[in-house]
Amino acid sequence: MVKRIGVLTSGGDCAGLNAAIRAIVLHADSHGWEVIGIEDGTQGLLDRPVRARRLLPDEFDGILLRRAGTILGTVSHGDPFAYPMPDGSIVDQSGRMIDGMRELAIEALICIGGDGSFRILDRLCRQAGMPLVGVPKTIDNDVYGTDAAIGFNTAVEVAVEALDRLQPTAQSHDRVMVLEVMGRDAGHIAIHAAVAGGADICLIPEISYDFGKVAEKLLAVKASGRSFALVVVAEAVKTDEGKPIAHRKPDGGIRYGGIGQWLAERIEAEVGIDCRVTVLGHVQRGAEPIAVDRVVASALGVHAVDLIASGRTGTVAVWSRRSVGELPIPEVVGRTRPVEVDDILVRTALGLGIYVGETGGGCTSP
Ligand code: F6P
Repeated sequence: MVKRIGVLTSGGDCAGLNAAIRAIVLHADSHGWEVIGIEDGTQGLLDRPVRARRLLPDEFDGILLRRAGTILGTVSHGDPFAYPMPDGSIVDQSGRMIDGMRELAIEALICIGGDGSFRILDRLCRQAGMPLVGVPKTIDNDVYGTDAAIGFNTAVEVAVEALDRLQPTAQSHDRVMVLEVMGRDAGHIAIHAAVAGGADICLIPEISYDFGKVAEKLLAVKASGRSFALVVVAEAVKTDEGKPIAHRKPDGGIRYGGIGQWLAERIEAEVGIDCRVTVLGHVQRGAEPIAVDRVVASALGVHAVDLIASGRTGTVAVWSRRSVGELPIPEVVGRTRPVEVDDILVRTALGLGIYVGETGGGCTSP
């Protein structure tokens, strides 16, 4: 019988993480289990003393369900198997992290994270003989097998709110407003926001585009008598020559940002319409979770505990067709979830007359 489980949040934060932690703590308590919250993802297992604390149901008095961020903290760097040390060397710290888990005397672990975190934690937990369950979260919504990852719907809501605020000012000044949204290599936030926010153009990394068609669409909007237009562009969209606009991070990873500016300058220069850019950035991550994210986070948190109780570990809890289920971790981490060219959102956008790129050519793998 399990008596004590650990939970950590890992990777970029998003709305709904506290709601998921709450669900785990409340449901574990109903089984009579203790929950240990590990601080700052796997970093808490590496530090000495190990940084973790008992999470009590009383802490979750109603405020945390609504609060953005994660009470446990999180990190999106520091692979335990290739950990960068202050002196520049790379060291395998997996043994030390496993010792950290043992010190906490936990019998199973729940990782609220994305596919990168699941991959690392799966390897670490296999080595430790520690049962693991993953709970998917990411505003990018690119985790395979789940219709919605925690945080995605709130990020879309923020992007739609931005479009709602950009539209009146675009209209007042006869401008094109370009909204650059996050999502890394997936265009889910962009396509949802474009449909819900009444955009005229939506460019996503999965579908190539022709700048000539972007210009044509803007001129057609103008010719129809409308003086403004809204454009949504996902951060990982490349220039029309296929050049990514991104910066190399010190750890070798990619940080996106700038395609909105590139597009706006190109529109002004070649279409001759006054254009402004808004880069939403981390505003999409810090919002209070909207109802649907609280629902998904609560359902996945409860299901994760049930998976441990029934011994169905080595799995990721997923939200699919308004219900919960689970998939083996290797099945999830081996795949991504891009926007498909025949996705209902793409078809809807096309039906609304939104230019979404050259859909005839199918989706490109970013
Ligand atoms: O994966 C979530 C995400 O917000 C991406 O959409 C974005 O590209 C990235 O994280 C930003 O990461 P960071 O918080 O490290 O700047």
